[in-house]
Amino acid sequence: MDEPEVRTLADAEAVAGAGAERFVEICRDAIARRERASVALSGGSTPRLLFRRLAQRPLRDELDWSRVEFFWGDERAVPADHEESNYRMAREELLEKLASPPQRIHRMPAERPDLDRAARDYQAELARVFGVPERGQPPAFDLVLLGLGADAHTASLFPATDALDERERWVVANHVPKLAADRLTLTPVVLNRAAHVLFLVVGRDKASAVAEVLEGPRDPKRLPAQLVRPESGALTWLLDEAAASGLRRGAR
Ligand code: 6PG
Repeated sequence: MDEPEVRTLADAEAVAGAGAERFVEICRDAIARRERASVALSGGSTPRLLFRRLAQRPLRDELDWSRVEFFWGDERAVPADHEESNYRMAREELLEKLASPPQRIHRMPAERPDLDRAARDYQAELARVFGVPERGQPPAFDLVLLGLGADAHTASLFPATDALDERERWVVANHVPKLAADRLTLTPVVLNRAAHVLFLVVGRDKASAVAEVLEGPRDPKRLPAQLVRPESGALTWLLDEAAASGLRRGAR
């Protein structure tokens, strides 16, 4: 894998704007080539501003959104209408505004009591939509959006949790002791097949994690975001100045 592109922007709005432009550029190219684009959305709060930018002019007019297949990188074990649901935030801030066709929206069913079964079913949905065998190579997303926790987790790949060691399955249930919570998450084998991986990270509380992940020694059990090293795809970090403040290398 080549060195990641690391861009530092003034603030959260600038990160959202740059991320939204890159999102549209990647999806437009994919649609031009294969008449569709596949995206895994990140969760948490950071993507909210990006979703809003995508859903308003000019960017909303830049794509045939009906050709975008929306998946998620991870989901909390809550109902789809729960305030903690990653799906709910994306639905309210983006998907409803774009009137995305329901068949293009592939929600992670993390509310189900049997999360392992839910993970297997989501893997089957990935295989079906991408038209690949479930036992074959993982599908290659055109774009995976990721965030970063202050503990250097990404998606729901949290430090010292079982999902970090998964090398076969594309989607797993992951128990997160520190949160006393369960999650569904894509695994590194899928993330690293993507054509483009785009981290969006803002805020001073993330500065230490950003510096350790990008400039520290390799220690993926403690710094799970270090597991994200696309085999042949592009890796880009969009940081605001606060999140980049711990980096030795200055703003790019
Ligand atoms: C989740 C996310 C998670 C998120 C980071 C950053 O479900 O929480 O997928 O990986 O990206 O925790 O969250 P914030 O954007 O809220 O800081």
